[in-house]
Amino acid sequence: MQVILRQLGDCSIRRAISSDLISVMEINLKTLPEHYSDYFYESLLAELPEAFIVAEIGGKHVGYIMCKTEYGFSNFKKLGFVKKGHVVSIAVLDEYRRKGIGQALVEESVNGVKLRKCDEFYLEVRCSNNEAVRLYEKLGFVIKQQLNAYYRDGEDAYLMAIELN
Ligand code: ACO
Ligand code: ZN
Repeated sequence: MQVILRQLGDCSIRRAISSDLISVMEINLKTLPEHYSDYFYESLLAELPEAFIVAEIGGKHVGYIMCKTEYGFSNFKKLGFVKKGHVVSIAVLDEYRRKGIGQALVEESVNGVKLRKCDEFYLEVRCSNNEAVRLYEKLGFVIKQQLNAYYRDGEDAYLMAIELN
């Protein structure tokens, strides 16, 4: 069943279904150096469909976000053990950027992980990725840590997180 979450002009923001995954993988290959197996996409969709979201314009996929949930130590509370949503990957095709699609994807995934009673939401992002860092900051994420040589090419990541409630 297709669940439309919001409409941004001619762009539909909706939950992903299995038949979207090939297009999601294509966007990932075009936009990011981190790639995953088919099985990984399928397992994220099976485990957290509430926060696996696509953006589509006239039948063309232009963006996605996919997430998972985990239990672990809080990024905010000392010694707290919490349920966390984790943004695994988000991207919007180059030609469709700066129109609010990335923001809508993150906001709808926040709603999705809230439905699953997550206390916090976090992600890693390349320290040099200003567009993405600004997007997350705009939505209330804060830099909690710098992860040394997190990426295969040696670049550091920022761990950014937000408390949900
Ligand atoms: N310069 C400055 N700020 C920017 C820029 C930019 N080029 N792009 C986005 N922002 C910030 C702004 O604050 C913007 O709000 P504003 O337009 O009101 O100023 C806010 O982000 C929202 O912008 P959107 O238009 O919603 O974002 P967009 O649809 O362009 O998507 C994204 C942003 C997903 C980061 C896109 O640039 C992209 O796909 N980049 C390549 C893939 C990538 O880097 N993904 C993130 C990796 S980290 C991870 O996956 C966990
Ligand atoms: Zn991660």
